[in-house]
Amino acid sequence: MNFCIDTLPKPADNIMTEIDIDALQAELNHKSPRIILKKALGLFDNIAISFSGAEDVVLIDMALAIRKDIKVFCLDTGRLHPETYRYLEKVRKHYQLDLEILTPDHQKLDAFVKSKGLFSFYEDGHHECCALRKVEPLTRKLATVDAWITGQRKDQSVDTRQYIPEVQVDKTFSSEKHRLVKFNPLLNWSSAQVWDYIEAYQVPYNELHKRGYISIGCEPCTMPVLPNQHERAGRWWWEAETKKECGLHAGNLQAPSP
Ligand code: ADX
Ligand code: SF4
Repeated sequence: MNFCIDTLPKPADNIMTEIDIDALQAELNHKSPRIILKKALGLFDNIAISFSGAEDVVLIDMALAIRKDIKVFCLDTGRLHPETYRYLEKVRKHYQLDLEILTPDHQKLDAFVKSKGLFSFYEDGHHECCALRKVEPLTRKLATVDAWITGQRKDQSVDTRQYIPEVQVDKTFSSEKHRLVKFNPLLNWSSAQVWDYIEAYQVPYNELHKRGYISIGCEPCTMPVLPNQHERAGRWWWEAETKKECGLHAGNLQAPSP
């Protein structure tokens, strides 16, 4: 089904204070990615897709059929694979996107690398590096939007992603004055469904997927996985499964609401 921007409800300026997130969640519960995206893009004008440079590209493909003016950003940690940088460019050209590439605060990063070097995460965990290279630029970006859209899926982690809802108030990045809403349209899709979509609609994909990579993050912190290994096994493989969130989705590490 094709959706057109003309058929979308016009977002209201004060929409943030008006939306009842519990009611919206009840409405979107178990709905398809397209329905969730259509609702998100219809309700919020100032909304952006967070694109990792992996199979979450399907969000971009679907969203463009709903609204031509979608905003997409990617966090360039400075440590992505060369293949991912090339892929970002491919996606930008393929969809003629105004893809926003966000970089870390260079002063904080310079100081960190000066004191701890380039690979401290292997010794004392990924959180400090992720905080500077991912969370800080994301925090800056999210302060400028009313809602964001992620490609998180439940099947990506039995340890940290089982309780993600279709829509939620993002408590990690909201403040008293700024309530931020987060949509997870792909949450109930399996990896196989995502790849069926990529094949069916001839969506460009990251070359690393041909070389055994399933989940793709930064180059020093991502490995290809073996057959039957879970995709998350290739991320921060030296750490416990329950710690494998980098701060972008820190709320996933909190206990689910009763
Ligand atoms: S991560 O938190 O472990 O790195 P993951 O790779 O599973 O996340 O991706 C889940 C979703 O988080 C992606 O679909 C995307 O929305 C967002 N995301 C992850 N990494 C990035 C990135 N570098 N830039 C923008 N969004 C990202
Ligand atoms: Fe640093 Fe690794 Fe986190 Fe990338 S994934 S920001 S390299 S710790």
